[in-house]
Amino acid sequence: MSDSSGPPTVRTVADLRAAVATWRSAGETIALVPTMGALHEGHLSLVRAAHANASKVVATLFVNPTQFGENEDLSTYPRDEDRDRELFAQEKVDLLFAPAIDQMYGENDSTRIDVGELGTCLDGEYRPGFFVGVATVVAKLLLQSLPDVALFGEKDFQQLQVIRRMVSDLHIPVEIMGVPTVREADGLALSSRNAYLTPEEREAAPALYSVLNKIADAARSGGDLPAAIDDGMDELRAAGFSSVDYLTVRNADTFAVIDASTDLQRFPGRVLGAAHLGKARLIDNVKL
Ligand code: PAF
Repeated sequence: MSDSSGPPTVRTVADLRAAVATWRSAGETIALVPTMGALHEGHLSLVRAAHANASKVVATLFVNPTQFGENEDLSTYPRDEDRDRELFAQEKVDLLFAPAIDQMYGENDSTRIDVGELGTCLDGEYRPGFFVGVATVVAKLLLQSLPDVALFGEKDFQQLQVIRRMVSDLHIPVEIMGVPTVREADGLALSSRNAYLTPEEREAAPALYSVLNKIADAARSGGDLPAAIDDGMDELRAAGFSSVDYLTVRNADTFAVIDASTDLQRFPGRVLGAAHLGKARLIDNVKL
């Protein structure tokens, strides 16, 4: 089961199921931390939260091709399994599931999971098919491992809500837990794609978080939201972002648009943004 260094590692669904079954019969509880590797502190915070919520932690490492669009970075996505394995070992991951593509997508594989509107707005509009790929692979990982709890970062907030919807609609018996975003000292949310930023772009990158906070302040104080959003667009362009996909205030559960007439006491709100800086597309969000 074990590769030379790093946590015990399985590469087939059968071996994953056998390991989990052994733990289950010993009364252990299981937490799942799905990742695509290129680990950073954000992923490690998921592993720590997983240890706090179950007696055994299974991490997964799989760069999922079905969530990448044709012109996206599947072939160049940062991959370093040895480094990831070392970091998982340091965080005392009990088992790593690192399947090859044919374990996840067998011959003639054709089933896809589409959660509807929640997965076609915002990032779903700018990255068509992305959330179908995410929902499909996460459903597979959950059904392969049948954990008690699975943990995802709030940094990818729409992804988190899509997964919650999918799990609820399909009656998959697992608790989905969101873990707060880990940030650099200047506010930039950690992301594997931050590696694409040049030093100059890295300096400009925290503007996204700063703009989201200004929009959140306007929403909380009943200020002029469209004006705050327009100002935010201008500020991002001035900071060097080449284009802004969206800056928006949404109901955190339904993703319905929130405007000045919405009673924020009654609706859980979220400010979300996505913008391009050099080769990176950055996304971030702030709770209202
Ligand atoms: O957030 C990610 O890293 C991926 O989208 C996930 C959830 C592991 C599915 O491939």
